[in-house]
Amino acid sequence: MCGIVGILGKDDVAAPIVEALRRLEYRGYDSAGVATIDKGEIARRRAAGKLNVLREKLAREPLAGRAGLGHTRWATHGAPIDENAHPHATDRVSIVHNGIIENFRELRDKLAAKGRNFQSATDSEVIAQLITAYIDEEGASPIDAFRRMLSRIRGAFAIAAIFAGEDDLILAARQGSPLAIGRGDGEMFIGSDAFALAPFTNRVTYLDEGDHAVVTRQGFEVFDSGGAPAQRREIVSSVSDAMVDKDGHRHFMAKEIHEQPEVVGHTLARFVDPTAAALRDFGAGFDFRKLDRLIVSACGTAYYAGLIAKYWFETWARLPVEIDIASELRYRDIPYPKKGGAVFVSQSGETADTLAALREAKAHGQRIGAVVNVAESSIAREADDIFQINAGPEIGVASTKAFTCQLVALASLAIKAGAERGVLSKDDQTALVAALLETPRLIAEALQQEKAIEKIAADLSKARDILYIGRGVSFPIALEGALKLKEISYIHAEGYAAGELKHGPIALIDEHVPVVVVAPSDRHYEKTISNMHEIIARGGRPLLISDKRGIKEAGDVWAAIEAPETHPLLSPLVYAVPVQLLAYFAATAKGTDVDQPRNLAKSVTVE
Ligand code: M6R
Repeated sequence: MCGIVGILGKDDVAAPIVEALRRLEYRGYDSAGVATIDKGEIARRRAAGKLNVLREKLAREPLAGRAGLGHTRWATHGAPIDENAHPHATDRVSIVHNGIIENFRELRDKLAAKGRNFQSATDSEVIAQLITAYIDEEGASPIDAFRRMLSRIRGAFAIAAIFAGEDDLILAARQGSPLAIGRGDGEMFIGSDAFALAPFTNRVTYLDEGDHAVVTRQGFEVFDSGGAPAQRREIVSSVSDAMVDKDGHRHFMAKEIHEQPEVVGHTLARFVDPTAAALRDFGAGFDFRKLDRLIVSACGTAYYAGLIAKYWFETWARLPVEIDIASELRYRDIPYPKKGGAVFVSQSGETADTLAALREAKAHGQRIGAVVNVAESSIAREADDIFQINAGPEIGVASTKAFTCQLVALASLAIKAGAERGVLSKDDQTALVAALLETPRLIAEALQQEKAIEKIAADLSKARDILYIGRGVSFPIALEGALKLKEISYIHAEGYAAGELKHGPIALIDEHVPVVVVAPSDRHYEKTISNMHEIIARGGRPLLISDKRGIKEAGDVWAAIEAPETHPLLSPLVYAVPVQLLAYFAATAKGTDVDQPRNLAKSVTVE
């Protein structure tokens, strides 16, 4: 999963390509590279590591050329070293690729047997070698060679290619990975998303699945999967060209945690009318009265948001929810109900597993709702109903503000379902909406514990293993807390349902294993506190996150973080904050790269 960009410009393109790559670094940052056509020949600069390393290389060894490609990589096949960095090239063609070529081994073996000399350990290089073989051995034109290459490869990809001797040509294709074409004035651009294109143009056309395009400075032609010319709509993208900055914070993650009162408020405004304390008519196409169950699916943090929503739909709407991780759901042989409904949750809207699960559900006749942050994403475009959140660009790899905003959208949807199914009275609805409207203030209150959390996190950062426990809606918060901690601090952490501890994980408890106990004063409080005492009795170190009352009643604990009192079922919106801050400060205490942790990428567009 990588970011790709291509420019047919009026002047040298290396610098604008690097600027576009900066906006695509969220898709991977193992290596980066640029290739251009300079005096008819392919020239390249590539560097392992983050974009800055490439930038420095380009400063030492500048690259001329008005036609070029760029790539930022998240390694799948082949280590993150210079040789495996894109663009890959022969003397005929240079290519960038996002995705995975599933049959690359077979193709590589055949090409190698014919004497083709592979320079990298990647699956992607086979694209360049195949094109070159068609040109060299069969006299194919670039377009013909590109099309024949496409007919040979299997997998998910977005590809762009430039050719030696062709200063006015980019060929591009999409199959499973997003690709957009941007129209300039006598210039043309391609990129993995509209965000990459935003500094250059807002006139954007997305390729459909199976499309390929022939791009020149004067325009472009699109061909569908059958090779027939196709019309694709040009939109005026609303994506801003302003590159978000850290706003005085040390990391994007810190900024994004602090933005939550505001963006949760913005998202609420989309779903709720604050004056009437009622839901807006936000037009969910589901007929909730007719649904027997609702399918919910997502990955990572978005999945935990869905898991919390399960409690809401079941309590407020008496609507059973079947929730699964998208990478599992997509391959399950589910007996889908006739005219059922499915909701997919994704910040980026590009997560490959979530998109594939969505398509599977759609193919089985389900009505598709999508909770997304990026309005022009693939998931948003393929859904029947979009429940857009207003989190704004989330740059930190660890998802924070998108999570709380997803919860707002899902809570609103669950209340709507409860109203339509006649489970929630008008008064119930008003009370829930009023409680939802309080969450921005409560999140702001939770943020005031930052200094205290920083101190506790400094201690926590010395642990090798940490457990998180919670019950009911606090169980997904335990899972989310553990995910957040491990992904940015590299401390091993696991979340458990508090009641599950005694069925195995309690064997891990000793004085070296802190346990974060998420226990607001709700109907599960006493049971969770009993589990906490079982931990204390075994020499464990509990860190209790609760409200004032909960902390007071709990007795002696190793440490406590106070959170404001909340509506019992809406506590995840507020308790997300302390677990985010704990992870953040544990990571800063350890000195890890908080915004771009090792081995990860913001948008996961491969399986
Ligand atoms: O863009 P999405 O919401 O679909 O992404 C899903 C996960 O990849 C994402 O939440 C991931 O788990 C985050 N790194 C968690 O902080």
